[in-house]
Amino acid sequence: MMTFTPSTLSASEEDFCRRYPDFEHTRALDELRAREYARLDQAGHIYLDYTGGGLYAESQLRAHMDLLTRGTFGNPHSSNPTSLAMTERVEHTRRFILDYFNASPDEYVAIFTQNASGALKLVGESYPFGPDSHYLLTFDNHNSVNGIREFARAKGAKVVYTSVLPPDLRIDAEKLTANLELSKPRTHNLFAYPAQSNFSGVQHSLEWITRAQAKGWDVLLDAAAFAPTNRLDFSAVRPDFVSLSFYKIFGYPTGVGALIAKKRALKKLRRPWFAGGTIEVASVQGDKFYFHEGAEAFEDGTINYLAIPAVEIGLKHIVSIGMDTIHTRVMCLTTWLLDQLTTLTHHNGKPLIRIYGPTTTEARGGTVTLNFYDVNGHFIDHRLVEQRANAVNISLRTGCFCNPGGGELALGISAEELTSCFITHDRMTLDEFRRCIDDKSTGAVRISVGLATTFADVYRFVEFARGFVDKRADEV
Ligand SMILES: Cc1ncc(COP(=O)(O)O)c(C=O)c1O
Repeated sequence: MMTFTPSTLSASEEDFCRRYPDFEHTRALDELRAREYARLDQAGHIYLDYTGGGLYAESQLRAHMDLLTRGTFGNPHSSNPTSLAMTERVEHTRRFILDYFNASPDEYVAIFTQNASGALKLVGESYPFGPDSHYLLTFDNHNSVNGIREFARAKGAKVVYTSVLPPDLRIDAEKLTANLELSKPRTHNLFAYPAQSNFSGVQHSLEWITRAQAKGWDVLLDAAAFAPTNRLDFSAVRPDFVSLSFYKIFGYPTGVGALIAKKRALKKLRRPWFAGGTIEVASVQGDKFYFHEGAEAFEDGTINYLAIPAVEIGLKHIVSIGMDTIHTRVMCLTTWLLDQLTTLTHHNGKPLIRIYGPTTTEARGGTVTLNFYDVNGHFIDHRLVEQRANAVNISLRTGCFCNPGGGELALGISAEELTSCFITHDRMTLDEFRRCIDDKSTGAVRISVGLATTFADVYRFVEFARGFVDKRADEV
Protein backbone atom coordinates (compact mmCIF):
# COMPACT_ATOMS: atom_id res chain seq x y z
CA MET A 1 0.00 0.00 0.00
CA MET A 2 1.17 3.55 -0.70
CA THR A 3 1.35 5.85 2.27
CA PHE A 4 0.27 9.46 2.07
CA THR A 5 0.42 12.19 4.58
CA PRO A 6 -3.16 13.41 4.81
CA SER A 7 -1.89 16.98 4.93
CA THR A 8 -0.34 16.76 1.43
CA LEU A 9 -3.54 15.26 0.04
CA SER A 10 -5.78 17.82 1.67
CA ALA A 11 -3.48 20.73 0.79
CA SER A 12 -3.44 19.56 -2.83
CA GLU A 13 -7.22 19.23 -2.82
CA GLU A 14 -7.61 22.74 -1.44
CA ASP A 15 -5.35 24.07 -4.13
CA PHE A 16 -7.22 22.05 -6.76
CA CYS A 17 -10.58 23.44 -5.58
CA ARG A 18 -9.23 26.99 -5.77
CA ARG A 19 -8.05 26.41 -9.34
CA TYR A 20 -11.16 24.56 -10.49
CA PRO A 21 -14.05 26.29 -8.69
CA ASP A 22 -16.65 24.33 -10.73
CA PHE A 23 -15.65 21.24 -8.80
CA GLU A 24 -17.52 22.58 -5.76
CA HIS A 25 -20.79 22.19 -7.72
CA THR A 26 -20.13 18.46 -7.94
CA ARG A 27 -19.67 17.83 -4.20
CA ALA A 28 -22.85 15.72 -4.13
CA LEU A 29 -20.76 13.08 -5.89
CA ASP A 30 -18.34 12.89 -2.95
CA GLU A 31 -21.30 12.15 -0.67
CA LEU A 32 -22.58 9.62 -3.16
CA ARG A 33 -19.17 7.95 -3.30
CA ALA A 34 -19.14 7.62 0.49
CA ARG A 35 -22.69 6.27 0.59
CA GLU A 36 -23.13 4.22 -2.56
CA TYR A 37 -19.63 3.22 -3.52
CA ALA A 38 -18.18 2.74 -0.02
CA ARG A 39 -16.78 -0.64 -1.05
CA LEU A 40 -14.00 1.12 -2.95
CA ASP A 41 -12.54 2.84 0.09
CA GLN A 42 -13.25 -0.08 2.40
CA ALA A 43 -10.99 -2.27 0.27
CA GLY A 44 -8.56 0.56 -0.58
CA HIS A 45 -9.31 0.44 -4.30
CA ILE A 46 -8.22 3.22 -6.63
CA TYR A 47 -10.42 2.52 -9.60
CA LEU A 48 -9.28 4.21 -12.79
CA ASP A 49 -10.82 2.10 -15.53
CA TYR A 50 -14.21 3.71 -16.16
CA THR A 51 -13.75 3.40 -19.92
CA GLY A 52 -13.39 -0.34 -19.34
CA GLY A 53 -16.48 -0.46 -17.15
CA GLY A 54 -18.51 1.92 -15.00
CA LEU A 55 -19.27 1.20 -11.35
CA TYR A 56 -22.74 0.61 -9.93
CA ALA A 57 -24.27 2.28 -6.90
CA GLU A 58 -25.50 -0.07 -4.18
CA SER A 59 -29.02 1.38 -4.50
CA GLN A 60 -29.18 0.21 -8.14
CA LEU A 61 -28.70 -3.38 -6.96
CA ARG A 62 -31.27 -3.02 -4.17
CA ALA A 63 -33.87 -1.52 -6.50
CA HIS A 64 -33.34 -4.31 -9.02
CA MET A 65 -33.41 -7.11 -6.43
CA ASP A 66 -36.50 -5.57 -4.89
CA LEU A 67 -38.27 -5.58 -8.24
CA LEU A 68 -37.35 -9.21 -8.91
CA THR A 69 -38.23 -10.28 -5.38
CA ARG A 70 -41.67 -8.70 -5.50
CA GLY A 71 -42.60 -9.61 -9.06
CA THR A 72 -43.02 -12.83 -10.97
CA PHE A 73 -41.73 -12.45 -14.46
CA GLY A 74 -41.96 -14.87 -17.36
CA ASN A 75 -40.40 -14.84 -20.81
CA PRO A 76 -41.90 -11.75 -22.53
CA HIS A 77 -44.03 -11.54 -25.67
CA SER A 78 -46.63 -14.09 -24.61
CA SER A 79 -50.10 -13.36 -23.34
CA ASN A 80 -49.93 -15.00 -19.91
CA PRO A 81 -49.86 -12.61 -16.93
CA THR A 82 -46.22 -13.11 -15.91
CA SER A 83 -45.10 -12.71 -19.50
CA LEU A 84 -47.22 -9.61 -19.95
CA ALA A 85 -45.72 -8.11 -16.79
CA MET A 86 -42.25 -8.61 -18.25
CA THR A 87 -43.21 -7.28 -21.69
CA GLU A 88 -44.54 -4.16 -20.02
CA ARG A 89 -41.21 -3.65 -18.18
CA VAL A 90 -39.12 -4.26 -21.29
CA GLU A 91 -41.16 -1.86 -23.41
CA HIS A 92 -41.13 0.73 -20.66
CA THR A 93 -37.33 0.53 -20.52
CA ARG A 94 -37.15 0.84 -24.30
CA ARG A 95 -39.19 4.06 -24.15
CA PHE A 96 -37.12 5.29 -21.23
CA ILE A 97 -33.89 4.85 -23.20
CA LEU A 98 -35.22 6.92 -26.10
CA ASP A 99 -36.46 9.53 -23.68
CA TYR A 100 -33.10 9.64 -21.89
CA PHE A 101 -31.31 10.38 -25.16
CA ASN A 102 -34.02 12.79 -26.28
CA ALA A 103 -34.72 10.59 -29.32
CA SER A 104 -38.18 10.90 -30.78
CA PRO A 105 -39.99 7.52 -30.85
CA ASP A 106 -41.43 8.61 -34.19
CA GLU A 107 -37.93 8.69 -35.63
CA TYR A 108 -35.85 6.21 -33.57
CA VAL A 109 -36.05 2.73 -32.07
CA ALA A 110 -33.96 1.17 -29.31
CA ILE A 111 -32.92 -2.41 -29.98
CA PHE A 112 -31.61 -4.46 -27.07
CA THR A 113 -28.31 -6.18 -27.73
CA GLN A 114 -25.78 -7.94 -25.55
CA ASN A 115 -23.36 -5.02 -25.65
CA ALA A 116 -22.05 -2.31 -27.97
CA SER A 117 -20.28 -4.96 -30.07
CA GLY A 118 -23.61 -6.74 -30.55
CA ALA A 119 -25.14 -3.47 -31.80
CA LEU A 120 -22.24 -2.94 -34.20
CA LYS A 121 -22.46 -6.48 -35.52
CA LEU A 122 -26.17 -6.07 -36.22
CA VAL A 123 -25.42 -3.10 -38.46
CA GLY A 124 -22.34 -4.70 -40.04
CA GLU A 125 -23.92 -7.99 -40.99
CA SER A 126 -27.12 -6.40 -42.31
CA TYR A 127 -25.91 -3.28 -44.05
CA PRO A 128 -26.59 -3.52 -47.81
CA PHE A 129 -22.98 -3.11 -48.89
CA GLY A 130 -22.40 -3.79 -52.57
CA PRO A 131 -19.54 -3.56 -55.06
CA ASP A 132 -20.03 0.19 -55.44
CA SER A 133 -20.31 0.84 -51.71
CA HIS A 134 -17.77 2.26 -49.29
CA TYR A 135 -17.20 1.58 -45.64
CA LEU A 136 -15.41 4.67 -44.36
CA LEU A 137 -14.03 4.80 -40.84
CA THR A 138 -11.52 6.65 -38.73
CA PHE A 139 -8.26 5.05 -37.56
CA ASP A 140 -9.12 5.18 -33.89
CA ASN A 141 -12.11 2.85 -33.78
CA HIS A 142 -12.68 -0.02 -31.42
CA ASN A 143 -12.15 -3.43 -33.01
CA SER A 144 -15.88 -4.07 -33.03
CA VAL A 145 -16.17 -1.17 -35.51
CA ASN A 146 -13.05 -2.26 -37.42
CA GLY A 147 -14.52 -5.74 -37.68
CA ILE A 148 -17.40 -4.48 -39.84
CA ARG A 149 -14.85 -4.14 -42.66
CA GLU A 150 -14.97 -7.95 -43.04
CA PHE A 151 -18.72 -7.83 -43.77
CA ALA A 152 -18.17 -4.90 -46.14
CA ARG A 153 -15.37 -6.65 -48.06
CA ALA A 154 -17.30 -9.90 -48.30
CA LYS A 155 -19.95 -7.98 -50.22
CA GLY A 156 -17.38 -6.30 -52.45
CA ALA A 157 -17.41 -2.87 -50.81
CA LYS A 158 -14.28 -0.72 -50.54
CA VAL A 159 -12.92 -0.08 -47.06
CA VAL A 160 -11.36 3.35 -46.54
CA TYR A 161 -9.69 4.58 -43.37
CA THR A 162 -9.22 8.24 -42.51
CA SER A 163 -6.24 8.93 -40.32
CA VAL A 164 -6.14 10.72 -37.01
CA LEU A 165 -3.13 12.97 -36.63
CA PRO A 166 -0.52 12.67 -33.87
CA PRO A 167 0.18 14.08 -31.39
CA ASP A 168 -3.42 15.03 -30.58
CA LEU A 169 -4.90 12.14 -32.57
CA ARG A 170 -7.72 14.24 -33.98
CA ILE A 171 -9.37 13.49 -37.32
CA ASP A 172 -7.49 14.62 -40.41
CA ALA A 173 -10.33 16.96 -41.40
CA GLU A 174 -9.02 17.66 -44.89
CA LYS A 175 -8.71 13.95 -45.65
CA LEU A 176 -12.11 13.10 -44.22
CA THR A 177 -13.74 15.90 -46.21
CA ALA A 178 -12.17 14.42 -49.35
CA ASN A 179 -13.16 10.86 -48.43
CA LEU A 180 -16.77 11.90 -47.90
CA GLU A 181 -16.86 12.66 -51.63
CA LEU A 182 -16.41 8.94 -52.39
CA SER A 183 -20.08 8.07 -52.09
CA LYS A 184 -21.81 7.66 -55.42
CA PRO A 185 -25.53 8.29 -55.94
CA ARG A 186 -27.83 5.25 -55.58
CA THR A 187 -25.24 3.22 -53.64
CA HIS A 188 -25.14 2.42 -49.92
CA ASN A 189 -22.27 3.91 -47.98
CA LEU A 190 -21.54 3.69 -44.29
CA PHE A 191 -19.34 6.03 -42.26
CA ALA A 192 -18.40 4.94 -38.72
CA TYR A 193 -16.54 6.82 -36.01
CA PRO A 194 -16.37 7.03 -32.23
CA ALA A 195 -17.94 10.03 -30.51
CA GLN A 196 -15.05 9.60 -28.06
CA SER A 197 -12.00 7.50 -28.77
CA ASN A 198 -11.44 4.81 -26.17
CA PHE A 199 -7.71 5.11 -26.94
CA SER A 200 -6.98 8.83 -26.74
CA GLY A 201 -10.14 10.26 -25.16
CA VAL A 202 -10.49 12.61 -28.17
CA GLN A 203 -14.04 13.69 -28.86
CA HIS A 204 -14.54 13.98 -32.58
CA SER A 205 -16.95 16.65 -33.71
CA LEU A 206 -20.54 15.47 -33.97
CA GLU A 207 -20.88 17.85 -36.91
CA TRP A 208 -19.37 15.12 -39.09
CA ILE A 209 -22.74 13.39 -38.80
CA THR A 210 -24.67 15.99 -40.78
CA ARG A 211 -21.78 16.63 -43.11
CA ALA A 212 -21.56 12.94 -44.00
CA GLN A 213 -25.32 12.53 -44.29
CA ALA A 214 -25.45 15.51 -46.65
CA LYS A 215 -23.05 13.59 -48.91
CA GLY A 216 -25.26 10.50 -48.88
CA TRP A 217 -23.61 8.47 -46.10
CA ASP A 218 -25.38 6.55 -43.36
CA VAL A 219 -23.60 7.36 -40.11
CA LEU A 220 -22.79 4.84 -37.40
CA LEU A 221 -21.74 6.68 -34.26
CA ASP A 222 -20.06 4.51 -31.66
CA ALA A 223 -21.05 6.19 -28.39
CA ALA A 224 -19.78 3.46 -26.04
CA ALA A 225 -16.97 5.58 -24.56
CA PHE A 226 -18.78 8.94 -24.89
CA ALA A 227 -22.15 8.23 -23.26
CA PRO A 228 -20.88 7.58 -19.69
CA THR A 229 -19.79 11.18 -19.09
CA ASN A 230 -21.41 13.25 -21.83
CA ARG A 231 -24.89 14.23 -22.89
CA LEU A 232 -25.86 12.71 -26.22
CA ASP A 233 -28.92 14.54 -27.48
CA PHE A 234 -30.66 13.05 -30.49
CA SER A 235 -32.69 16.20 -30.99
CA ALA A 236 -29.44 18.03 -31.75
CA VAL A 237 -27.57 15.37 -33.75
CA ARG A 238 -29.25 12.65 -35.72
CA PRO A 239 -26.95 9.72 -36.45
CA ASP A 240 -28.48 6.78 -38.31
CA PHE A 241 -27.12 4.17 -35.90
CA VAL A 242 -25.67 4.48 -32.40
CA SER A 243 -24.01 1.69 -30.40
CA LEU A 244 -23.59 1.59 -26.63
CA SER A 245 -23.14 -0.69 -23.62
CA PHE A 246 -25.04 0.18 -20.45
CA TYR A 247 -22.48 -1.21 -17.99
CA LYS A 248 -20.09 1.49 -19.21
CA ILE A 249 -22.56 4.18 -18.14
CA PHE A 250 -23.69 2.89 -14.74
CA GLY A 251 -21.89 -0.38 -14.04
CA TYR A 252 -24.83 -2.74 -13.72
CA PRO A 253 -26.17 -4.77 -15.43
CA THR A 254 -23.59 -6.21 -17.77
CA GLY A 255 -24.89 -8.11 -20.77
CA VAL A 256 -27.22 -5.38 -22.07
CA GLY A 257 -26.41 -2.81 -24.74
CA ALA A 258 -28.41 -1.05 -27.38
CA LEU A 259 -28.49 -0.15 -31.00
CA ILE A 260 -30.43 3.08 -31.29
CA ALA A 261 -31.40 3.35 -34.92
CA LYS A 262 -33.38 5.64 -37.14
CA LYS A 263 -36.45 3.80 -38.33
CA ARG A 264 -35.71 4.91 -41.87
CA ALA A 265 -32.14 3.59 -41.72
CA LEU A 266 -33.28 0.33 -40.15
CA LYS A 267 -35.49 -0.35 -43.16
CA LYS A 268 -32.36 -0.54 -45.30
CA LEU A 269 -30.84 -3.38 -43.29
CA ARG A 270 -31.10 -6.94 -44.61
CA ARG A 271 -30.65 -9.49 -41.89
CA PRO A 272 -28.62 -12.54 -42.94
CA TRP A 273 -30.84 -14.92 -41.00
CA PHE A 274 -33.94 -15.10 -38.86
CA ALA A 275 -34.19 -16.39 -35.33
CA GLY A 276 -36.76 -17.05 -32.67
CA GLY A 277 -38.33 -13.76 -31.64
CA THR A 278 -37.49 -11.92 -34.88
CA ILE A 279 -40.28 -13.18 -37.13
CA GLU A 280 -44.04 -12.83 -37.44
CA VAL A 281 -44.34 -16.07 -39.37
CA ALA A 282 -41.92 -18.73 -40.58
CA SER A 283 -42.75 -21.93 -42.36
CA VAL A 284 -40.81 -25.13 -42.90
CA GLN A 285 -42.86 -26.58 -45.73
CA GLY A 286 -43.64 -23.20 -47.26
CA ASP A 287 -39.94 -22.24 -46.90
CA LYS A 288 -40.80 -18.64 -46.13
CA PHE A 289 -40.54 -16.21 -43.24
CA TYR A 290 -41.71 -12.67 -42.45
CA PHE A 291 -39.85 -10.42 -40.02
CA HIS A 292 -41.49 -8.42 -37.27
CA GLU A 293 -41.61 -4.68 -37.78
CA GLY A 294 -39.00 -2.56 -35.95
CA ALA A 295 -36.81 -3.50 -33.00
CA GLU A 296 -38.01 -7.06 -32.52
CA ALA A 297 -36.75 -8.10 -35.94
CA PHE A 298 -33.24 -7.47 -34.61
CA GLU A 299 -33.48 -9.14 -31.21
CA ASP A 300 -32.41 -12.74 -31.71
CA GLY A 301 -33.94 -15.27 -29.35
CA THR A 302 -34.78 -14.48 -25.76
CA ILE A 303 -33.48 -11.09 -24.68
CA ASN A 304 -31.82 -10.65 -21.30
CA TYR A 305 -35.24 -9.78 -19.93
CA LEU A 306 -34.62 -9.92 -16.20
CA ALA A 307 -31.64 -7.57 -16.53
CA ILE A 308 -33.42 -5.03 -18.74
CA PRO A 309 -35.38 -3.27 -15.93
CA ALA A 310 -32.01 -2.59 -14.27
CA VAL A 311 -31.19 -0.39 -17.28
CA GLU A 312 -34.03 1.94 -16.39
CA ILE A 313 -32.89 1.92 -12.76
CA GLY A 314 -29.37 2.79 -13.89
CA LEU A 315 -30.50 5.60 -16.18
CA LYS A 316 -32.63 7.04 -13.39
CA HIS A 317 -29.55 6.98 -11.18
CA ILE A 318 -27.68 9.05 -13.76
CA VAL A 319 -30.63 11.42 -14.15
CA SER A 320 -30.80 11.88 -10.38
CA ILE A 321 -27.13 12.97 -10.33
CA GLY A 322 -27.35 14.95 -13.57
CA MET A 323 -25.12 14.30 -16.58
CA ASP A 324 -23.87 17.89 -16.46
CA THR A 325 -22.60 17.35 -12.91
CA ILE A 326 -20.84 14.12 -13.92
CA HIS A 327 -19.34 15.83 -16.95
CA THR A 328 -18.11 18.85 -14.96
CA ARG A 329 -16.49 16.65 -12.35
CA VAL A 330 -14.76 14.43 -14.85
CA MET A 331 -13.44 17.42 -16.76
CA CYS A 332 -12.10 19.16 -13.63
CA LEU A 333 -10.31 15.99 -12.54
CA THR A 334 -8.97 15.31 -16.04
CA THR A 335 -7.62 18.85 -16.43
CA TRP A 336 -5.76 18.55 -13.14
CA LEU A 337 -4.47 15.11 -14.03
CA LEU A 338 -3.17 16.29 -17.41
CA ASP A 339 -1.55 19.37 -15.85
CA GLN A 340 0.21 17.27 -13.23
CA LEU A 341 1.31 14.44 -15.49
CA THR A 342 2.71 16.68 -18.20
CA THR A 343 4.91 18.54 -15.70
CA LEU A 344 6.52 15.48 -14.13
CA THR A 345 10.19 15.32 -15.13
CA HIS A 346 13.36 13.46 -14.16
CA HIS A 347 16.19 15.39 -12.47
CA ASN A 348 17.84 15.87 -15.89
CA GLY A 349 14.72 17.60 -17.22
CA LYS A 350 13.56 14.69 -19.40
CA PRO A 351 9.79 14.20 -19.28
CA LEU A 352 8.50 11.21 -17.31
CA ILE A 353 5.30 10.75 -19.25
CA ARG A 354 4.18 10.98 -22.83
CA ILE A 355 0.47 11.44 -23.37
CA TYR A 356 -1.14 10.09 -26.53
CA GLY A 357 -3.86 12.57 -27.36
CA PRO A 358 -4.69 16.12 -26.36
CA THR A 359 -3.00 17.50 -23.25
CA THR A 360 -5.77 20.03 -22.67
CA THR A 361 -9.42 19.25 -22.06
CA GLU A 362 -10.60 20.92 -25.24
CA ALA A 363 -12.83 18.38 -27.07
CA ARG A 364 -11.65 15.39 -25.08
CA GLY A 365 -13.06 13.20 -22.34
CA GLY A 366 -11.73 11.65 -19.16
CA THR A 367 -9.68 8.88 -20.79
CA VAL A 368 -5.94 9.51 -20.65
CA THR A 369 -3.50 7.19 -22.41
CA LEU A 370 0.22 7.47 -21.82
CA ASN A 371 3.55 5.73 -21.50
CA PHE A 372 6.24 6.22 -18.90
CA TYR A 373 9.80 7.07 -19.99
CA ASP A 374 12.84 6.50 -17.85
CA VAL A 375 15.60 8.88 -16.92
CA ASN A 376 17.49 8.00 -20.15
CA GLY A 377 14.44 8.53 -22.33
CA HIS A 378 13.65 4.79 -22.83
CA PHE A 379 10.03 3.77 -22.58
CA ILE A 380 9.04 1.64 -19.60
CA ASP A 381 7.06 -1.42 -20.60
CA HIS A 382 3.38 -0.86 -19.85
CA ARG A 383 3.16 -4.36 -18.38
CA LEU A 384 5.66 -3.39 -15.68
CA VAL A 385 3.68 -0.25 -14.92
CA GLU A 386 0.57 -2.37 -14.57
CA GLN A 387 2.32 -4.77 -12.20
CA ARG A 388 3.38 -1.89 -9.97
CA ALA A 389 -0.11 -0.40 -10.10
CA ASN A 390 -1.66 -3.75 -9.19
CA ALA A 391 0.62 -3.96 -6.19
CA VAL A 392 -0.84 -0.73 -4.77
CA ASN A 393 -4.46 -1.55 -5.65
CA ILE A 394 -4.72 0.84 -8.59
CA SER A 395 -6.96 -0.56 -11.33
CA LEU A 396 -5.83 0.80 -14.65
CA ARG A 397 -5.66 -0.75 -18.09
CA THR A 398 -2.75 -1.43 -20.40
CA GLY A 399 -2.32 -2.66 -23.96
CA CYS A 400 -4.06 -1.13 -26.95
CA PHE A 401 -7.63 -1.36 -25.59
CA CYS A 402 -9.00 -3.11 -28.71
CA ASN A 403 -8.14 0.05 -30.64
CA PRO A 404 -5.18 -0.96 -32.84
CA GLY A 405 -5.36 2.06 -35.19
CA GLY A 406 -5.03 4.55 -32.35
CA GLY A 407 -2.17 2.51 -30.92
CA GLU A 408 -0.28 2.15 -34.20
CA LEU A 409 -0.36 5.89 -34.86
CA ALA A 410 0.44 6.90 -31.31
CA LEU A 411 3.32 4.45 -30.99
CA GLY A 412 4.74 5.17 -34.42
CA ILE A 413 4.33 1.69 -35.94
CA SER A 414 4.25 2.12 -39.71
CA ALA A 415 2.08 0.44 -42.32
CA GLU A 416 5.24 -1.01 -43.95
CA GLU A 417 6.41 -2.62 -40.72
CA LEU A 418 2.99 -4.11 -40.14
CA THR A 419 2.56 -5.39 -43.67
CA SER A 420 5.94 -7.09 -43.77
CA CYS A 421 5.21 -8.62 -40.40
CA PHE A 422 1.82 -10.02 -41.34
CA ILE A 423 2.85 -11.29 -44.77
CA THR A 424 5.11 -13.94 -43.24
CA HIS A 425 2.67 -15.28 -40.66
CA ASP A 426 -0.51 -17.34 -40.89
CA ARG A 427 -1.07 -17.10 -37.16
CA MET A 428 0.65 -14.87 -34.64
CA THR A 429 0.86 -14.48 -30.90
CA LEU A 430 1.27 -11.07 -29.29
CA ASP A 431 4.87 -11.95 -28.34
CA GLU A 432 5.71 -12.88 -31.94
CA PHE A 433 4.13 -9.62 -33.06
CA ARG A 434 6.30 -7.65 -30.62
CA ARG A 435 9.48 -9.32 -31.87
CA CYS A 436 8.40 -8.69 -35.43
CA ILE A 437 8.19 -4.94 -34.92
CA ASP A 438 11.60 -4.75 -33.22
CA ASP A 439 10.32 -4.78 -29.68
CA LYS A 440 8.63 -1.41 -30.10
CA SER A 441 6.05 -0.83 -27.45
CA THR A 442 2.78 -2.34 -28.60
CA GLY A 443 0.78 -0.77 -25.89
CA ALA A 444 0.25 1.98 -23.41
CA VAL A 445 -1.25 2.70 -20.01
CA ARG A 446 -4.79 4.00 -19.85
CA ILE A 447 -6.44 5.69 -16.93
CA SER A 448 -10.01 6.86 -17.05
CA VAL A 449 -12.15 8.70 -14.57
CA GLY A 450 -15.88 8.54 -14.05
CA LEU A 451 -18.80 9.49 -11.91
CA ALA A 452 -17.47 7.97 -8.67
CA THR A 453 -13.91 9.31 -9.00
CA THR A 454 -12.70 11.56 -6.19
CA PHE A 455 -9.81 13.97 -6.09
CA ALA A 456 -8.01 11.49 -3.82
CA ASP A 457 -8.11 8.86 -6.60
CA VAL A 458 -6.37 11.03 -9.17
CA TYR A 459 -3.99 12.44 -6.54
CA ARG A 460 -2.93 8.91 -5.68
CA PHE A 461 -2.29 8.10 -9.29
CA VAL A 462 -0.06 11.15 -9.67
CA GLU A 463 1.87 10.09 -6.55
CA PHE A 464 2.18 6.59 -8.04
CA ALA A 465 3.54 8.14 -11.25
CA ARG A 466 5.99 10.23 -9.25
CA GLY A 467 7.47 6.95 -8.00
CA PHE A 468 9.03 6.44 -11.47
CA VAL A 469 11.00 9.70 -11.36
CA ASP A 470 14.74 9.18 -11.86
CA LYS A 471 14.28 5.44 -12.40
CA ARG A 472 15.94 3.50 -15.21
CA ALA A 473 13.78 1.10 -17.22
CA ASP A 474 15.94 -1.89 -16.17
CA GLU A 475 15.49 -0.98 -12.48
CA VAL A 476 11.72 -0.96 -12.87
C1 LIG B 1 -15.47 3.04 -28.05
C2 LIG B 1 -15.89 1.63 -27.77
N1 LIG B 1 -16.65 0.98 -28.66
C3 LIG B 1 -17.07 -0.27 -28.47
C4 LIG B 1 -16.70 -0.97 -27.35
C5 LIG B 1 -17.18 -2.38 -27.18
O1 LIG B 1 -17.98 -2.47 -26.05
P1 LIG B 1 -18.44 -3.93 -25.56
O2 LIG B 1 -17.19 -4.67 -25.22
O3 LIG B 1 -19.28 -3.62 -24.36
O4 LIG B 1 -19.18 -4.55 -26.66
C6 LIG B 1 -15.89 -0.36 -26.40
C7 LIG B 1 -15.43 -1.10 -25.21
O5 LIG B 1 -14.51 -0.73 -24.53
C8 LIG B 1 -15.49 0.97 -26.60
O6 LIG B 1 -14.74 1.63 -25.71
